[in-house]
Amino acid sequence: MASVEYAKGLEGVIAAESSICRIDGENGKLYYMGYPIRQLVEQCSFEEVTYLLLYGELPTIEQLTIFQRKMRHSRPISAPIQAMIRDFPRDSHPMELLQAVVSYLSGYVEHKIQHDAYCNCRITLHQVSQLATVVATLHRFRSGKDYVEPREDLSHGANFLYMLHGREPSELEGTIMDDCLTLHAEHSFNASTFTARVVASTLSTCYCSISAAIGALYGSLHGGANEKVMDMVDEVGELSRVDAWLSAALDQKRKIMGMGHRVYKAKDPRAIVVEGYLERLGAEKGETRYYEILKRIETLFRERMEEKGKPIYPNVDFFSGAVYRLLGIPSSLFTPVFAIARAPGWLAHVLEQRSDNRIFRPKALYVGHQQREVVPIEQRS
Ligand SMILES: CC(C)(COP(=O)(O)OP(=O)(O)OC[C@H]1O[C@@H](n2cnc3c(N)ncnc32)[C@H](O)[C@@H]1OP(=O)(O)O)[C@@H](O)C(=O)NCCC(=O)NCCS
Repeated sequence: MASVEYAKGLEGVIAAESSICRIDGENGKLYYMGYPIRQLVEQCSFEEVTYLLLYGELPTIEQLTIFQRKMRHSRPISAPIQAMIRDFPRDSHPMELLQAVVSYLSGYVEHKIQHDAYCNCRITLHQVSQLATVVATLHRFRSGKDYVEPREDLSHGANFLYMLHGREPSELEGTIMDDCLTLHAEHSFNASTFTARVVASTLSTCYCSISAAIGALYGSLHGGANEKVMDMVDEVGELSRVDAWLSAALDQKRKIMGMGHRVYKAKDPRAIVVEGYLERLGAEKGETRYYEILKRIETLFRERMEEKGKPIYPNVDFFSGAVYRLLGIPSSLFTPVFAIARAPGWLAHVLEQRSDNRIFRPKALYVGHQQREVVPIEQRS
C-alpha cells in the first residue's frame, strides 16, 4: 500500500465515499442526497427528511403515511425507561443519560434484527423517535413534573415542544422546531458521524453506533457552541452595550462564539434560515432583544474582520441558541436537541457504511520508545 501523509485529526483525509451530504463551503451551500437544504426546510417535514436519509429518496404520500405512522407509534417510552430517567443521577449531563438509554433500548430488540443488514434502524425507528421523548421526559422529571404522553397528531418538532412543556406549541413554534431539526439532521463527516461509521464498520449494532456517536457529540469541541453564544448574549445584556463589549472582546483576542466555520467560508446556509426564524419568533413573542444583539454583533464583527482582510460569517449556532431559548428550551438541552436532530444522519451513515463495508483500521505514527528493558519494581525510582 502507498504510504500516506500524516494529518493530525485526519484533517483533509478522505476516509470513505459517501452520497449523503454535500457541503460547498466556498459558496455556503448544503445538500442532503442532492437536495438543497433550503428546499428541504421549506417543503418537507423532519419526518420526510428522515425518510430521505434512511432510504435515499423522498417518500411518496403513501410511503410517508406509513413511515410517519410508524415513527409516531414509536414515540412513547416504556415504564422501565421512564424509571431509568427518573433514577439517573441528578447531576449527570442529559447526554450521558441519552447514551445510556440508547444502549438500554437495544435490549428490547431481537438480536437477529439488530444484526440485520439494515441493522434494524428502518424497522423500529426507536432511535429517531424516542430520543425526543427521552430528552423531554428528563427535563420534566428534573423540573418535578410528570411524563407527558406523546401525541400522534403533531410533527416531530411540535410534539417535542408539547412533551417538554405539557402544552401545545403555536403553529410558528412547532414549525420552527421541526425545521431546526431538519437543519441539523446531517452534516457529513464530523466527529460524531465518523464515530458512528467506525462502530458500524465492525458490524456492531446500530444502537452501539448511535450511542457512540452521542458520546462524541457530548464533547465540548463538537456540540455546544450555541450554548456559549447565549452565554455571550447574556454577558452583553443590552443592545447599547454591544459596541463596547465587542471592542473589548477583540482587544482581549477572545473568540466570538457562533462566528466562523472550518468548512463554510461564506454565511452558513442554515444560519440564514435560523436568523429569519429568530426575527419572526421574537416578533411573535415580543422579545426582539436577542435578535437585535446578535445582528449588531454580526455586523460589527464582520466589519472588523473585513478590515483585517479576514471575512468571517455566522454559523448555524450563532442564531439557534436564541431560537431555542425563545421556544423555552433550557441551554442544558441544546446539545441533546442536536442529538435528536442528528440521529437520522448518523443512521444514514451507518447504513451506507454497511452497504459497502471495510473495517476502519488507520495506522499511528509511532513516536514512543523503540525498546526498553523492564526494571524490577523495587529498583524503579
Ligand atoms: C470554527 C473555527 C474553529 C474555525 O477556525 P479557523 O479554521 O481558524 O477559521 P479561519 O481560518 O477562517 O480563521 C481566519 C482568522 O479569523 C479568526 N477567527 C475565526 N473565527 C473567529 C471567531 N469566531 N472569533 C474571533 N476570531 C476568529 C481566526 O483566529 C483566524 O485568525 P488568524 O489568521 O489570526 O489565525 C473558529 O471560527 C471558531 O473558533 N469559531 C467560534 C466557535 C464556534 O462557533 N464553533 C462552532 C463551529 S460550528
